[in-house]
Amino acid sequence: MNQRVVDITNAIVRNLHQVIREYRVTEDELRKAIEFLTEVGQKQEFTLLSDVLRVSVLVTEVTHADEYDGLSTPHNVEGPLYRDGAPVLQSPARLCANDSTGDILFMYGRVLSSQTGEPLPNAVVEVWQANEEGFYENQDERQPDYNLRGRVLPDATGRYEFRTIVPGPYSIARGGPVGRLLEALGRHDMRPAHIHFRITCEGYKPLTTMLFVPGDPWLDSDAIGAVKPSLVMQFERHEAPEELQARDVDRPFYTCEFDFKLQPVKSTVRA
Ligand code: BEZ
Ligand code: FE
Repeated sequence: MNQRVVDITNAIVRNLHQVIREYRVTEDELRKAIEFLTEVGQKQEFTLLSDVLRVSVLVTEVTHADEYDGLSTPHNVEGPLYRDGAPVLQSPARLCANDSTGDILFMYGRVLSSQTGEPLPNAVVEVWQANEEGFYENQDERQPDYNLRGRVLPDATGRYEFRTIVPGPYSIARGGPVGRLLEALGRHDMRPAHIHFRITCEGYKPLTTMLFVPGDPWLDSDAIGAVKPSLVMQFERHEAPEELQARDVDRPFYTCEFDFKLQPVKSTVRA
């Protein structure tokens, strides 16, 4: 017997029975609920269901809460679009084969120890993101393999830099049972534009997180509830001809500075 399974199952059943009594759930409604869950399984949408019910974000929060030192960059969900084996790129790196469309973004900063502030030149900054239309390369035949994905290596001072394009927001549940549930709930299925990161360094806890594009119209209503104010980037727009020339770009561009703070494996945990 597994006592934790017993305790959690009993707690779920207790709450479920309470809902059935409170709402006088009918046999017909139970049948529809079972059909819905069957379809969720058939269409492999259980993770998506957990995401839109805000369960995934809450589990990530609870998982890290007891160990969080209060100083490191907050964790966030990985999402389903991570792909292993992204190219290793030395800073300053370029993430997109072709940035002729979309807004050009130069993103840079340092990877630091959350406890001492020392830079971590041996860190790896793994990045994955959608293009300006909201498509990841593995959802879009027009993009080359591993486009907008990379494992960026900082320089000797711990500074990373990559050139990319500003991603667009995207829809996550079109056409399936989870999408129908959102419609019935009067909710949309949009995720605000974001860039995913996984930062690793020996001696430090791995950090999976995502940073959000400032001003995105869906920031206040993310379908999976993952937005945290400290994870919204700050962009600076550059349009002076000498700046364009110095960066070798043909149109105005954005820069964003963001320092990632990693928690040492052996560290003081917030009280
Ligand atoms: C994502 O951020 O890539 C994502 C998260 C949850 C569901 C779908 C996509
Ligand atoms: Fe994403």
